[in-house]
Amino acid sequence: MKFSITITLLVLSNLLFAQTLEKPNDYLTSDFHKKRREALRTKMPQNSVAIFFANPVRNRANDVSYVYHQDPNFFYLTGHREPHSALLIFKDEQLVDGNTFNELIFVRAHDALMELYEGARLGKEGAKEQLGFKVSFESPSFENLNLDFSKFEKVLFYDFNNDVRNTTEKGDLYDLISQFKQKVGYQQTNLSIEPDLNNLDIKLLDRYMNELRGVKTKEELVLLRKAINISAVGQVEVMKALEPNMSETEIQGLHEFVFKKYQAEFEGYPSIVGAGNNGCVLHYIDNHKPEIEDGELILMDLGAEYRGYTADVTRTIPVNGKFSKEQKLIYDLVYEAQQAAADSCKAGLPFSTLYQITANVVNEGLVELGIYKSTNRADVINSETGRNRYYPHGCCHHIGLDVHDKGMYGVLEENMVITIEPGIYISEGSPTEERWWKIPVRIEDDYLVTKDGCELLSGMAPRKSDEIEKLMSEKSFFSNYKLPELDDK
Ligand code: GLY
Ligand code: MN
Ligand code: MN
Repeated sequence: MKFSITITLLVLSNLLFAQTLEKPNDYLTSDFHKKRREALRTKMPQNSVAIFFANPVRNRANDVSYVYHQDPNFFYLTGHREPHSALLIFKDEQLVDGNTFNELIFVRAHDALMELYEGARLGKEGAKEQLGFKVSFESPSFENLNLDFSKFEKVLFYDFNNDVRNTTEKGDLYDLISQFKQKVGYQQTNLSIEPDLNNLDIKLLDRYMNELRGVKTKEELVLLRKAINISAVGQVEVMKALEPNMSETEIQGLHEFVFKKYQAEFEGYPSIVGAGNNGCVLHYIDNHKPEIEDGELILMDLGAEYRGYTADVTRTIPVNGKFSKEQKLIYDLVYEAQQAAADSCKAGLPFSTLYQITANVVNEGLVELGIYKSTNRADVINSETGRNRYYPHGCCHHIGLDVHDKGMYGVLEENMVITIEPGIYISEGSPTEERWWKIPVRIEDDYLVTKDGCELLSGMAPRKSDEIEKLMSEKSFFSNYKLPELDDK
């Protein structure tokens, strides 16, 4: 007896030990997600139901899928990171087949063979224990859910993109969506013309999610700060390690190594590492220039994703450690634009003012440098793209579970986390003197909006041109690493 108790305790402690080792313990808690569901329920109109679906699994090639990433709304409301799942949130308590509930989750059923290959699934019991749902079902039983959707005044959901593959798995996302469409009488063609046809609504939910996700809670801020610090350390380490003749790919790898070193699970978006003219392509993700050149600038826009939350940080630095005269003039102008916006940023300011501040500094500066003739629209706007010729993008967006996060774009509010990211990109052949060509500069930082101002969250990575040059003269722990030459025979 004594022996068996000891064995039981050993087995139990091993199980507990194994569980704590298996996954990080700093994910958001089930209590956080539950409170977010409550917050959504409070916003929902009377007698309504909201339904969310997990992200699809995407095929990469043949029998290989892309690494799975949960839909951020679904994650925000559940913490569930598995595919083929659906969530229903009801405004009011429901009574169905003897069960009472105001929310339901449908998750994948257990499957010993699939779990052998892909790891354990939560299952419906796990959904109760780990996600905190009172009632959960296996996805294949969604079909049989005995719920009359016509009784609701509103059925809220995001419209479908019709880009989900059907698989042989019963209750997969394809089935869940098809069954939902059938249950609510959804017809895509009618709906896109007349979204408020009967009780279906494809707009309200996005408004609520923008309101909720755009203002961060203290738990989210912990994770965002971590993602941002990790990304800034990546920039710092690369500033020290960078040398001409490295490839863009290697530089990307150094950043991403730092992310992984701190156990960030993903990059929040495809990393952008572009030297010289490549840096002028706004979302350049090829990152395949074999040898960056002495005298070039390199633009590096990378964000670590930590427990779902992503940073978005850009630094532009001289490959050889020293800005040329023209590079420094452009760099310092972008810095001035960014700082002017940061100085004005505080709760109550209209979002659009931030862009206006940066654009005014950039346009006036470019006139002073002789790159624009004047700040008149005709001199500044590229007639083909309709955008500012050398500053062709917006300056600011929310970050969070998405790099371009859900959020309201009216007026800044306390605890929003946003980027300020002006840039100037003068590609080869631009209608200005050749000495300005191949200069791409973006400086992108992440800020927490406060009552009286904003807090710079990505300040671990220097932003001023002289501070960057100083840091670049230091050695990195990457500086002396050597790998064997490979024989190309
Ligand atoms: N990294 C994408 C962006 O800056 O918006
Ligand atoms: Mn950005
Ligand atoms: Mn960015």
